[in-house]
Amino acid sequence: MTTRAVVIGVGHYLPERVVPNSEFEKTLETSDEWIRTRSGIERRHFAAEDETTSDLAMFAARKAIENAGLEPDDIDAIVVATSTPDLTFPSVATMVQQKLGMTRGFGFDVQAVCAGFIYALSTANALVVSGQAKRVMVIGAETFSRIMDWTDRGTCVLFGDGAGALVLEAQDSAGDISDRGVLSSDLNSDGRYRDMLYVDGGVSTTGDSGKLRMQGNALFRQAVEKLSSTATAALDKIGLNDDAVDWIVPHQANIRIIQGTAKKLGIPMERVIVTVQDHGNTSAASIPLAMSVGVQQGKIKKGDLLVAEAIGGGLAWGAVVLRW
Ligand code: UT7
Repeated sequence: MTTRAVVIGVGHYLPERVVPNSEFEKTLETSDEWIRTRSGIERRHFAAEDETTSDLAMFAARKAIENAGLEPDDIDAIVVATSTPDLTFPSVATMVQQKLGMTRGFGFDVQAVCAGFIYALSTANALVVSGQAKRVMVIGAETFSRIMDWTDRGTCVLFGDGAGALVLEAQDSAGDISDRGVLSSDLNSDGRYRDMLYVDGGVSTTGDSGKLRMQGNALFRQAVEKLSSTATAALDKIGLNDDAVDWIVPHQANIRIIQGTAKKLGIPMERVIVTVQDHGNTSAASIPLAMSVGVQQGKIKKGDLLVAEAIGGGLAWGAVVLRW
């Protein structure tokens, strides 16, 4: 018998305001055509001025709790992946705890930029299998619109805001690859690549939150290689290969990266969940958003084998294999 962290609820939230590519044509030397062909993005959602990351996270969490048929106090822990918290501290997780009306449990944030949800899911799994929590809410939530330089056409057209959430529950399982739940993970980082994607401000440097800077083309070249190798490594750990995979749920940064990674893994695009056209790059929120949309669309079903993979600032990258 093995304890597995099994997904029992999923939900997402997108802010009301939808911004099509054409809106950037008014202020920047760019075009809908360039953005579509280079990134696959057609539109993105931006949070309202008074809407914060913890608001987005709370709405997604409420839906996941409802989907699981639970009440907030049935949750033992909240792990939020974000790089755009409401405040330097306290954590977004504790704000979500309060907004949900939870009176027990604990919460904390994980920061691994666009790979954040992979790190958070892996951490939540560890809490469950070690017996520290029976039910864990894992959330990816971001307001990247707040760290955009609106004069930099190489970045500001690519990102969006949103949140997605999963509820994991400890369940007794056979201990083999037919089990539902998280089956393996592979985490990596390499700080030597820091200049490829970073924010040029922070508490102990400039004292403000700064703006996102990215060497898009250099990062692009790293992405396909690292994403395919981390996905393969996570599958290798449990003796599986690409044939066993029902769905790749990739970080949604660029359709060309998603296609290149799928091709390297030998998985046809029909088995890849793609939301980048509607959400843009929502950093740590992109994978749980894609999972939630994939379920809503009737694609991801109970028992399917999923590989989620992501890369972002750090560089930090990784993959999780889970059976839905
Ligand atoms: O979430 C974390 C992970 N993030 C990523 O993995 C992002 C990785 N990078 C990318 O997605 C792509 O590199 C971009 C979409 C950012 C850029 O696509 P690219 O094919 O790598 O283009 P590029 O950076 O090589 O730029 C090509 C040209 C440049 O002009 P010149 O130097 O050739 O004259 C850019 O200045 O496109 C220009 N350009 C634009 N043109 C119109 C850059 N941004 C824009 C724009 N509109 N918005």
